[in-house]
Amino acid sequence: MSSNRSSFTGKIGFVLAAAGSAVGLGNIWRFPYLAAKYGGGMFLLVYIALSVTFGFALMVAEIAIGRKTGKSAIEAFTALDKRFTFVGVLAAIVPAIILPYYSVIGGWVTKYLVGFVSGDASNMAGDAYFGNYIGSVGEPLLWFALFIGATAVIVLFGVEKGIEKVSKVLMPVLIALTLFIALYTIFSMDGAWDGVRYYLLPDFSNFSLMTVVAAMGQLFYSMSLAMGIMITFGSYMKKDISIEKSAKQIEIFDTGVAFLAGLMIIPAVFAFSGGNEEALGKGPSLMFVTLPKVFEAMPGGTIIGAVFFFMVLLAALTSSISLMETVVSVFMDKFKLGRRTSCLVVLGISVLLGVPSSLGYSAWSDFTILGMQVLDFFDFISNSIMMPVVALITAIFVSFVIKPKAIIDEVELSGKFKWKKLFSVVIRYVAPVCILAILVSSVLDVFGIVKI
Ligand code: PHE
Repeated sequence: MSSNRSSFTGKIGFVLAAAGSAVGLGNIWRFPYLAAKYGGGMFLLVYIALSVTFGFALMVAEIAIGRKTGKSAIEAFTALDKRFTFVGVLAAIVPAIILPYYSVIGGWVTKYLVGFVSGDASNMAGDAYFGNYIGSVGEPLLWFALFIGATAVIVLFGVEKGIEKVSKVLMPVLIALTLFIALYTIFSMDGAWDGVRYYLLPDFSNFSLMTVVAAMGQLFYSMSLAMGIMITFGSYMKKDISIEKSAKQIEIFDTGVAFLAGLMIIPAVFAFSGGNEEALGKGPSLMFVTLPKVFEAMPGGTIIGAVFFFMVLLAALTSSISLMETVVSVFMDKFKLGRRTSCLVVLGISVLLGVPSSLGYSAWSDFTILGMQVLDFFDFISNSIMMPVVALITAIFVSFVIKPKAIIDEVELSGKFKWKKLFSVVIRYVAPVCILAILVSSVLDVFGIVKI
């Protein structure tokens, strides 16, 4: 991976490639259900505050580390300081944990697309449909296999560039469609405005430490931070392109898509079920339960729904490809395996971890880890534990080992670093202290030591 490193051609090439990896199920499926569950406007406010501080500082640091060393995560840390190789290793494990369960959700999306295309749309709008579906054993496994299989084939044959090109054209369509569905719901359904209010007006009584924990994990996940991916992207970036501007553009783009997805789903939840705690707290199923109802109520909804799920599927695929590509390249570099073997090994691991994630909703629903279903557990371990740990050590690494100046110098190769002060303060003080506090409290919470 480190040899023959090609550069992104233009300014926009880098941002688009990074955004293609960043925008995925995290924005469309994960963000809305977390926002619904953890306080609506309060969650949105905390998320935005974290993204302009933590998110910005970490994104800049990761891209700069990648560009400075010209290497992907593990080698980049080794090149800067051997003692910190383990951070790169830790970061590289994260996408390997995410990919399997990401593909389970990708399978759900595929199922919904096929359902809409084959005329099953009105059935899917029924209350019990989704629960029955994930409660069955065979079908979810089949769609999961198809999704991870397709990802593997694309990575194996190295045709991801083609897919990414398609997705760039389709991204604006996805955004326009999301906006359209949001506006349709808001202006035509009774009760939807209550949802808009819940989503846009922060209510401080909805604040809890869990809001911050969830928002921070989501930030890492959605922006592909703390898993070495932005380091790899940075290694491909030319020296005359502004890291600062690129980081800001990726953040605005990624947050914009997530924001719209929330606006599409939360008002609909209020319209269909009054926005009571049970409806808002649905978790991973929220999108799948709510959207078919919206499409059912919409003239031409079956076609719009089919197009929508197709777009989501593509966005999910570009992300899963980038997740798999990362893990495959680690295997190639570290274990000196060929591309094909690495691909098969990663596919094997993904099936091993993905099957229990899928069965966790059906045959193995009695089996829980720390009180969580398998999929939730993988999500928790990666987002709430490993990514904060990687982010924390990265911040410490930048502050005390290579020093913020190393990053600032790299950023200034292409001009003035406008938010230099903010960067230094956040990476030195705010990030380490806050991440540590959040990490400790979320661990204590899971083990039931304190309730947050
Ligand atoms: N950021 C992607 C999303 O929001 C997930 C992802 C993480 C993709 C890391 C690639 C790499 O869905």
